[in-house]
Amino acid sequence: MLREVFIVQSGLAEIGKRSRWPARLDVVQSLSGLALALFMWGHMFFVASILLGADVMWAITKLFEGYFFLGQSYPRLVSGVVAVVIALFVVHALLALRKFPINYRQYTTVRAHAQAMKHGDTTLWLWQAHTGFMLFFLASAHLYQMLVWPQNIGPYASSDRIWSDGLWPFYLVMLLTVELHGGIGLYRLALKWGWPPLSRHSLHWLKWLLTAFFLILGLATLGAYMKIGFEHRQHYGERYTPTWGTEGEER
Ligand code: HEM
Repeated sequence: MLREVFIVQSGLAEIGKRSRWPARLDVVQSLSGLALALFMWGHMFFVASILLGADVMWAITKLFEGYFFLGQSYPRLVSGVVAVVIALFVVHALLALRKFPINYRQYTTVRAHAQAMKHGDTTLWLWQAHTGFMLFFLASAHLYQMLVWPQNIGPYASSDRIWSDGLWPFYLVMLLTVELHGGIGLYRLALKWGWPPLSRHSLHWLKWLLTAFFLILGLATLGAYMKIGFEHRQHYGERYTPTWGTEGEER
Protein backbone atom coordinates (compact mmCIF):
# COMPACT_ATOMS: atom_id res chain seq x y z
CA MET A 1 0.00 0.00 0.00
CA LEU A 2 2.74 2.41 1.07
CA ARG A 3 4.60 1.55 -2.12
CA GLU A 4 1.55 2.46 -4.30
CA VAL A 5 1.07 5.78 -2.50
CA PHE A 6 4.74 6.60 -3.05
CA ILE A 7 4.56 5.72 -6.75
CA VAL A 8 1.44 7.86 -7.31
CA GLN A 9 2.56 10.85 -5.24
CA SER A 10 6.08 10.97 -6.62
CA GLY A 11 4.70 11.15 -10.17
CA LEU A 12 6.32 7.83 -11.17
CA ALA A 13 2.89 6.57 -12.22
CA GLU A 14 2.77 9.32 -14.87
CA ILE A 15 6.00 8.23 -16.54
CA GLY A 16 5.30 6.78 -19.95
CA LYS A 17 1.84 8.42 -20.18
CA ARG A 18 1.44 11.11 -22.81
CA SER A 19 0.38 14.51 -21.57
CA ARG A 20 -1.10 17.34 -23.60
CA TRP A 21 0.06 19.91 -21.08
CA PRO A 22 3.50 20.76 -22.56
CA ALA A 23 1.79 21.54 -25.88
CA ARG A 24 -0.93 23.60 -24.18
CA LEU A 25 1.67 25.55 -22.23
CA ASP A 26 3.53 26.20 -25.49
CA VAL A 27 0.37 27.71 -26.98
CA VAL A 28 -0.09 29.94 -23.93
CA GLN A 29 3.54 31.01 -24.15
CA SER A 30 3.16 31.86 -27.83
CA LEU A 31 -0.09 33.78 -27.26
CA SER A 32 1.24 35.76 -24.30
CA GLY A 33 4.40 36.58 -26.31
CA LEU A 34 2.32 37.69 -29.28
CA ALA A 35 0.11 39.87 -27.08
CA LEU A 36 3.18 41.48 -25.49
CA ALA A 37 4.81 42.07 -28.89
CA LEU A 38 1.64 43.71 -30.27
CA PHE A 39 1.35 45.79 -27.11
CA MET A 40 4.99 46.84 -27.60
CA TRP A 41 4.33 48.05 -31.16
CA GLY A 42 1.45 50.20 -29.92
CA HIS A 43 3.52 51.39 -26.95
CA MET A 44 6.42 52.47 -29.19
CA PHE A 45 4.06 54.57 -31.34
CA PHE A 46 2.34 56.16 -28.32
CA VAL A 47 5.66 57.04 -26.68
CA ALA A 48 6.99 58.29 -30.06
CA SER A 49 4.12 60.82 -30.20
CA ILE A 50 6.65 63.22 -28.63
CA LEU A 51 8.26 63.40 -32.09
CA LEU A 52 5.07 65.08 -33.34
CA GLY A 53 5.28 67.63 -30.55
CA ALA A 54 4.70 67.98 -26.81
CA ASP A 55 1.02 68.84 -27.39
CA VAL A 56 0.41 65.52 -29.17
CA MET A 57 2.11 63.49 -26.41
CA TRP A 58 0.17 65.45 -23.79
CA ALA A 59 -3.13 64.69 -25.60
CA ILE A 60 -2.33 60.96 -25.86
CA THR A 61 -1.43 60.79 -22.17
CA LYS A 62 -4.70 62.51 -21.32
CA LEU A 63 -6.63 60.17 -23.61
CA PHE A 64 -5.36 57.16 -21.64
CA GLU A 65 -6.29 58.90 -18.40
CA GLY A 66 -9.88 59.27 -19.63
CA TYR A 67 -9.73 63.08 -19.64
CA PHE A 68 -11.51 63.51 -22.99
CA PHE A 69 -14.47 61.26 -22.21
CA LEU A 70 -14.73 61.43 -18.39
CA GLY A 71 -14.04 65.18 -18.17
CA GLN A 72 -11.25 64.65 -15.63
CA SER A 73 -7.89 62.83 -15.52
CA TYR A 74 -7.74 59.45 -13.77
CA PRO A 75 -4.10 58.23 -13.90
CA ARG A 76 -5.28 55.04 -12.18
CA LEU A 77 -6.76 53.97 -15.50
CA VAL A 78 -3.17 53.74 -16.74
CA SER A 79 -2.28 51.64 -13.67
CA GLY A 80 -5.11 49.28 -14.69
CA VAL A 81 -3.57 48.77 -18.14
CA VAL A 82 -0.14 48.31 -16.54
CA ALA A 83 -1.58 45.62 -14.23
CA VAL A 84 -2.84 43.67 -17.27
CA VAL A 85 0.58 43.97 -18.94
CA ILE A 86 2.29 42.80 -15.72
CA ALA A 87 -0.01 39.75 -15.61
CA LEU A 88 0.87 38.88 -19.22
CA PHE A 89 4.55 39.46 -18.52
CA VAL A 90 4.53 37.16 -15.45
CA VAL A 91 2.72 34.35 -17.33
CA HIS A 92 5.10 34.67 -20.28
CA ALA A 93 8.23 34.75 -18.08
CA LEU A 94 7.03 31.80 -15.98
CA LEU A 95 6.45 29.67 -19.06
CA ALA A 96 9.77 30.76 -20.60
CA LEU A 97 11.58 29.49 -17.50
CA ARG A 98 10.78 25.94 -18.67
CA LYS A 99 13.11 26.44 -21.61
CA PHE A 100 16.07 27.93 -19.73
CA PRO A 101 19.14 25.79 -19.00
CA ILE A 102 18.82 24.97 -15.29
CA ASN A 103 22.49 24.54 -14.38
CA TYR A 104 25.94 25.46 -15.60
CA ARG A 105 26.41 22.12 -17.33
CA GLN A 106 23.25 22.52 -19.42
CA TYR A 107 24.24 26.09 -20.22
CA THR A 108 27.73 25.16 -21.46
CA THR A 109 26.27 22.25 -23.47
CA VAL A 110 23.76 24.43 -25.30
CA ARG A 111 26.40 27.10 -25.93
CA ALA A 112 28.90 24.55 -27.21
CA HIS A 113 26.25 23.07 -29.54
CA ALA A 114 25.38 26.52 -30.89
CA GLN A 115 29.05 27.35 -31.48
CA ALA A 116 29.76 24.00 -33.13
CA MET A 117 26.68 24.02 -35.39
CA LYS A 118 26.93 27.69 -36.40
CA HIS A 119 23.22 27.43 -37.12
CA GLY A 120 21.71 30.92 -37.33
CA ASP A 121 18.36 30.12 -35.72
CA THR A 122 20.00 28.27 -32.80
CA THR A 123 22.22 31.27 -32.16
CA LEU A 124 19.11 33.48 -32.30
CA TRP A 125 17.50 31.26 -29.65
CA LEU A 126 20.46 31.95 -27.33
CA TRP A 127 20.08 35.68 -27.93
CA GLN A 128 16.42 35.41 -27.09
CA ALA A 129 17.15 33.56 -23.86
CA HIS A 130 19.76 36.15 -22.78
CA THR A 131 17.62 39.18 -23.65
CA GLY A 132 14.60 37.52 -22.00
CA PHE A 133 16.62 37.07 -18.82
CA MET A 134 17.64 40.76 -18.87
CA LEU A 135 14.00 41.76 -19.31
CA PHE A 136 13.07 40.06 -16.03
CA PHE A 137 14.84 42.96 -14.35
CA LEU A 138 14.54 45.83 -16.82
CA ALA A 139 10.83 45.45 -17.59
CA SER A 140 9.98 44.85 -13.91
CA ALA A 141 11.62 48.14 -12.87
CA HIS A 142 9.84 50.08 -15.65
CA LEU A 143 6.44 48.47 -15.09
CA TYR A 144 6.66 49.10 -11.35
CA GLN A 145 7.26 52.83 -11.95
CA MET A 146 4.35 53.04 -14.40
CA LEU A 147 2.06 51.12 -12.03
CA VAL A 148 2.80 53.17 -8.93
CA TRP A 149 3.34 56.66 -10.38
CA PRO A 150 1.12 56.81 -13.49
CA GLN A 151 0.58 60.52 -12.83
CA ASN A 152 4.25 61.13 -13.72
CA ILE A 153 3.81 60.56 -17.45
CA GLY A 154 3.81 63.54 -19.81
CA PRO A 155 6.04 65.67 -22.03
CA TYR A 156 7.93 67.29 -19.11
CA ALA A 157 7.43 64.59 -16.46
CA SER A 158 8.78 61.84 -18.77
CA SER A 159 11.62 64.04 -20.05
CA ASP A 160 12.64 65.00 -16.51
CA ARG A 161 12.74 61.32 -15.59
CA ILE A 162 14.86 60.51 -18.63
CA TRP A 163 17.29 63.44 -18.32
CA SER A 164 17.35 64.91 -14.80
CA ASP A 165 16.65 61.61 -13.00
CA GLY A 166 19.31 60.04 -15.26
CA LEU A 167 17.23 57.15 -16.61
CA TRP A 168 18.29 57.47 -20.25
CA PRO A 169 21.04 54.76 -20.06
CA PHE A 170 18.44 52.42 -18.54
CA TYR A 171 16.00 53.13 -21.40
CA LEU A 172 18.76 52.75 -23.98
CA VAL A 173 19.66 49.27 -22.73
CA MET A 174 15.99 48.28 -22.36
CA LEU A 175 15.20 49.53 -25.88
CA LEU A 176 17.97 47.42 -27.47
CA THR A 177 17.02 44.41 -25.35
CA VAL A 178 13.28 44.51 -25.95
CA GLU A 179 13.57 45.15 -29.70
CA LEU A 180 15.97 42.21 -30.16
CA HIS A 181 13.86 39.98 -27.93
CA GLY A 182 10.55 40.90 -29.57
CA GLY A 183 11.91 40.70 -33.12
CA ILE A 184 13.44 37.26 -32.62
CA GLY A 185 10.35 36.11 -30.72
CA LEU A 186 7.96 37.09 -33.52
CA TYR A 187 10.23 35.46 -36.11
CA ARG A 188 10.28 32.19 -34.15
CA LEU A 189 6.49 32.36 -33.69
CA ALA A 190 6.01 32.78 -37.44
CA LEU A 191 8.27 29.80 -38.17
CA LYS A 192 6.63 27.65 -35.49
CA TRP A 193 3.01 28.24 -36.46
CA GLY A 194 3.57 28.79 -40.20
CA TRP A 195 2.00 32.25 -40.42
CA PRO A 196 2.57 34.46 -42.37
CA PRO A 197 3.28 31.75 -44.99
CA LEU A 198 6.65 33.12 -46.13
CA SER A 199 9.99 31.38 -46.66
CA ARG A 200 12.50 31.32 -43.81
CA HIS A 201 14.66 33.69 -45.84
CA SER A 202 11.86 36.26 -46.28
CA LEU A 203 10.89 35.99 -42.61
CA HIS A 204 14.49 36.63 -41.68
CA TRP A 205 14.51 39.83 -43.71
CA LEU A 206 11.16 40.93 -42.34
CA LYS A 207 12.44 40.40 -38.81
CA TRP A 208 15.50 42.60 -39.34
CA LEU A 209 13.43 45.27 -41.13
CA LEU A 210 10.97 45.46 -38.23
CA THR A 211 13.74 45.45 -35.62
CA ALA A 212 15.63 48.20 -37.47
CA PHE A 213 12.43 50.27 -37.85
CA PHE A 214 11.53 50.10 -34.15
CA LEU A 215 15.12 50.68 -33.07
CA ILE A 216 15.40 53.83 -35.19
CA LEU A 217 12.00 55.04 -34.00
CA GLY A 218 12.95 54.26 -30.37
CA LEU A 219 16.33 56.00 -30.59
CA ALA A 220 14.77 59.10 -32.17
CA THR A 221 12.12 59.10 -29.41
CA LEU A 222 14.68 58.72 -26.64
CA GLY A 223 16.72 61.54 -28.19
CA ALA A 224 13.63 63.79 -28.23
CA TYR A 225 12.89 63.16 -24.51
CA MET A 226 16.57 63.75 -23.65
CA LYS A 227 16.59 67.06 -25.52
CA ILE A 228 13.37 68.28 -23.84
CA GLY A 229 14.66 67.05 -20.46
CA PHE A 230 17.98 68.86 -20.95
CA GLU A 231 16.25 72.12 -21.90
CA HIS A 232 13.82 71.74 -19.01
CA ARG A 233 16.46 70.82 -16.38
CA GLN A 234 16.25 74.20 -14.57
CA HIS A 235 12.49 73.73 -14.18
CA TYR A 236 12.61 70.12 -13.02
CA GLY A 237 9.21 69.06 -11.65
CA GLU A 238 7.24 71.73 -13.49
CA ARG A 239 4.50 70.16 -15.65
CA TYR A 240 3.54 70.80 -19.25
CA THR A 241 0.59 73.00 -20.15
CA PRO A 242 -0.68 72.52 -23.71
CA THR A 243 -0.25 75.50 -26.00
CA TRP A 244 -4.03 75.89 -26.29
CA GLY A 245 -4.03 76.25 -22.45
CA THR A 246 -6.57 73.96 -20.79
CA GLU A 247 -7.66 75.31 -17.40
CA GLY A 248 -5.82 73.78 -14.50
CA GLU A 249 -4.45 70.92 -16.59
CA GLU A 250 -0.74 70.51 -16.67
CA ARG A 251 1.71 67.61 -16.93
C1 HEM B 1 1.26 49.55 -19.73
C2 HEM B 1 2.57 49.42 -19.51
C3 HEM B 1 3.55 50.49 -19.92
C4 HEM B 1 3.43 51.85 -19.85
C5 HEM B 1 2.24 52.67 -19.35
C6 HEM B 1 4.66 52.41 -20.37
C7 HEM B 1 4.92 53.76 -20.50
C8 HEM B 1 6.08 54.31 -20.98
C9 HEM B 1 6.38 55.72 -21.05
C10 HEM B 1 5.41 56.83 -20.63
C11 HEM B 1 7.61 55.87 -21.57
C12 HEM B 1 8.35 57.21 -21.83
C13 HEM B 1 9.43 57.41 -20.78
C14 HEM B 1 8.89 57.66 -19.39
O1 HEM B 1 7.88 58.34 -19.17
O2 HEM B 1 9.53 57.14 -18.45
C15 HEM B 1 8.11 54.54 -21.85
C16 HEM B 1 9.32 54.26 -22.45
C17 HEM B 1 9.76 52.99 -22.75
N1 HEM B 1 9.16 51.81 -22.41
FE1 HEM B 1 7.35 51.59 -21.57
N2 HEM B 1 5.49 51.39 -20.73
C18 HEM B 1 4.87 50.20 -20.46
C19 HEM B 1 5.36 48.92 -20.67
C20 HEM B 1 6.58 48.64 -21.22
C21 HEM B 1 7.09 47.31 -21.43
C22 HEM B 1 6.39 45.99 -21.07
C23 HEM B 1 8.31 47.45 -22.00
C24 HEM B 1 9.23 46.37 -22.46
C25 HEM B 1 10.09 45.85 -21.71
C26 HEM B 1 8.57 48.88 -22.17
C27 HEM B 1 9.70 49.42 -22.73
C28 HEM B 1 9.94 50.77 -22.86
C29 HEM B 1 11.10 51.33 -23.55
C30 HEM B 1 12.20 50.51 -24.23
C31 HEM B 1 10.99 52.70 -23.49
C32 HEM B 1 11.93 53.73 -24.11
C33 HEM B 1 11.29 54.06 -25.45
C34 HEM B 1 12.20 54.80 -26.39
O3 HEM B 1 13.33 55.11 -26.06
O4 HEM B 1 11.73 55.05 -27.51
N3 HEM B 1 7.49 49.55 -21.68
N4 HEM B 1 7.17 53.62 -21.49
